[in-house]
Amino acid sequence: MKKILTGLQPTGTITLGNYIGAIKQMVNNQDKYNSYLFIADMHAITVKQDPKTLHQNIKNLLAIYLACGIDPQKNTIFIQSENEYHANISWFLECNTSFGVLTRMTQFKDKSKKNEKFTSGLLTYPVLMAADILTYDVDYVPVGIDQKQHVELARDIAINFNKVYGETFKIPKPLITETGTKIMDLVNPTKKMSKSSENQNGVIRILDSEKEIRNKIMKATTDSDNQIKFDVENKPGISNLINIYSALTQLTIKEVEQKFLNSSYAEFKKATADLVVNELTSIQEKYQQLINSKQLNEILDNGIKIARKEAKTKYELMKTKIGLGR
Ligand code: AMP
Ligand code: TRP
Repeated sequence: MKKILTGLQPTGTITLGNYIGAIKQMVNNQDKYNSYLFIADMHAITVKQDPKTLHQNIKNLLAIYLACGIDPQKNTIFIQSENEYHANISWFLECNTSFGVLTRMTQFKDKSKKNEKFTSGLLTYPVLMAADILTYDVDYVPVGIDQKQHVELARDIAINFNKVYGETFKIPKPLITETGTKIMDLVNPTKKMSKSSENQNGVIRILDSEKEIRNKIMKATTDSDNQIKFDVENKPGISNLINIYSALTQLTIKEVEQKFLNSSYAEFKKATADLVVNELTSIQEKYQQLINSKQLNEILDNGIKIARKEAKTKYELMKTKIGLGR
């Protein structure tokens, strides 16, 4: 069975974009693949975090994974920082990755521009991500399009390491859905819907109330020609809603256009809001049942046992290949 792995950062409440770009893909694939899903808490600290909030967010994210339909029987679920091999393996990889390549990563350029006191962890972030991936010899990495460059870097790092030290890693591929890979901000639909967005009206969060969800979608920025047609360049707002509709129903873009051929924007927005409310309220009910349950710790205990064992094997292999130790 082929393997997939992905991680999300426990920073803020996850958005509809995270759900569609990453979690839903894991849910759709969990029967087909040997699946690994982790909480990337060490990636979260590449930017400043309040320790109490971070700690709470880790548990919340686990409960959200499960509420979204991630089956702990079918996934190895763990917390990144509980597997100390990731950081060790990341160091080995860092020493085999050029500084220049890291400074040219799009996300690094964006984030470092926003804060002139950025940490060195922000620069080496993609190498830790490569370690997360390469440790488990995964075949595919489901991510939103914004993380594709990092998965490609992990590939390059693996290819290079194999060349220098001999066969050590499987070469992973990013797994990106055709539609809905990048959900845009509802207010500013040329910008990604992001956890850290300042304008709350542009972002739907998994735990938003029905009223909030409806308000945000009904007020979403659109053009004024009242044609429900997918055209990212000229109609980014409507195209974004079509993407959301398509991702949540599995209808193709064409089928969504066809379905709403004679509808007004208001009707289409209402239908999209109904769909999102329906999907998210059922997630929220499950979340409430899970958030204080003992099951969460049991799942993490199981997951980390499997993850550590595999990571230790890879770590030892790398040490030997590199010539470290006694
Ligand atoms: P992050 O919010 O950066 O921790 O992202 C976690 C996962 O969600 C990654 O796989 C991202 O590619 C994906 N993701 C984040 N924002 C979006 C978005 N607006 N649309 C689609 N996928 C997203
Ligand atoms: N960097 C990813 C993000 O912010 C999270 C992440 C960390 C990840 N390690 C990973 C995703 C490994 C996929 C595979 O979205």
